[in-house]
Amino acid sequence: MAKLIQAIRGMHDILPQDSPVWQLLESDFRDLAHQYGYAEIRMPLVEKTELFVRTIGEITDIVEKEMYTFEDLNGDQLTLRPEGTAGCVRACIEHGLIHNQVQRLWYCGPMFRHERPQKGRYRQFFQLGAEAYGMAGPDIDAELILMTARLWKELGIQGLQLQLNSLGSLEARARYRDILVEYMTAHIEQLDADSQRRLHSNPLRILDSKNPAMQALISEAPQLSDSLDDESALHFADLLELLDKAGVAYTINPRLVRGLDYYEKTVFEWVSDRLGSQGTVCAGGRYDGLIQHLGGRPVPAAGFAMGMERLLSLMVEDGVQATALSPHIYLVIAGDGLASQGLALAESLRDWRSELRVMVSCSGGSFKSQMKRADKSHAALALILGEDEAQCGNIVVKFLRREKPQETISQTALTDYLENIDEIQRKLS
Ligand code: HAM
Repeated sequence: MAKLIQAIRGMHDILPQDSPVWQLLESDFRDLAHQYGYAEIRMPLVEKTELFVRTIGEITDIVEKEMYTFEDLNGDQLTLRPEGTAGCVRACIEHGLIHNQVQRLWYCGPMFRHERPQKGRYRQFFQLGAEAYGMAGPDIDAELILMTARLWKELGIQGLQLQLNSLGSLEARARYRDILVEYMTAHIEQLDADSQRRLHSNPLRILDSKNPAMQALISEAPQLSDSLDDESALHFADLLELLDKAGVAYTINPRLVRGLDYYEKTVFEWVSDRLGSQGTVCAGGRYDGLIQHLGGRPVPAAGFAMGMERLLSLMVEDGVQATALSPHIYLVIAGDGLASQGLALAESLRDWRSELRVMVSCSGGSFKSQMKRADKSHAALALILGEDEAQCGNIVVKFLRREKPQETISQTALTDYLENIDEIQRKLS
């Protein structure tokens, strides 16, 4: 027997029994985005590699080690998108969506990072994201945070903690970088190999290190907040005031620097302590300089993205359930040569009520096995089209979920009959 081909490590099938809860999260997010006036954008899964290198930054984990990059048949260097912001900005510039106008957008879809798979960390994972363009004030930062807070409430997810920081302007960050490099260089013997490598390429990321041996050094390090430019400091203070007034609790985390280079001013993460080391369920911030950096005119921007798998695991742990849609009616075709009449009958029922879910027992089998399948489908009732019924234009109605004698009725009277069946009407309303 041929060897079975399995899915790629870190890339998962979402099975039929799991898809209802995925659909629930997607539809809740879609409704939320629409509540706040965000319109959907769908970007390609593949972009030119250069887009991600220029956007996320050359010396970042994502670009250095995690991208699925390949050369296509034309010899172009392409990459499976590791995140959504880069493609969204590219699309906005390309289609003039942010030229002299405000734009609020959302997206949903798979992202790809060649990370070491573990619980909450996958090589294909799904993000729900929102990006807002053309608004420079802290009010839009607050709106994005309020949106996410509302989603947690609607989904019933408890215990998420909001962490905030300001990275300042690019210039302020460059100044801070020099101060930090000086400090870290003075303690170079305490830096682990990864941090030594980052010392000159991306020293702010040293602050993000989880290595316990470096925590004392990091906590003594000069703080970015002491180097903030006045404008960023004011922006941050205004944001905090907006959040206080809106009743959103937060913690300021001076070590929150984020792993992507495009951020400036506000950055934030929603973190859970129930997910082990992969506790960040949502992350974002401002990236006012990115559009110009990619060749567009300067446009202020901010956004976030959340990892669906991480949110879903919290939802499932909290007992959120979503059940698969079962058919209302299961049509059993008990006789040879009755397929076309059966299919036509099912079509006429779907014409009658578009919300009605009718499953037809295709490709026959014995009457007994068809009735077993009808029962397994969880339908409320079975319609049985046998040879006698077909000849007389009748149909047998059998209730699958309650005791009631089966009835034979005329096919032309079927919809009137169904109008008075509780199981159907309740589910349709
Ligand atoms: P990020 O922090 O790289 O930011 O990813 C956002 C979220 O995606 C994470 O907080 C996490 O929930 C989820 N995530 C990331 N990597 C994985 C993985 N390997 N497996 C499972 N989940 C993962 C961004 O992607 C930015 N584009 C966010 C943003 C939008 N900033 C502004 N606009």
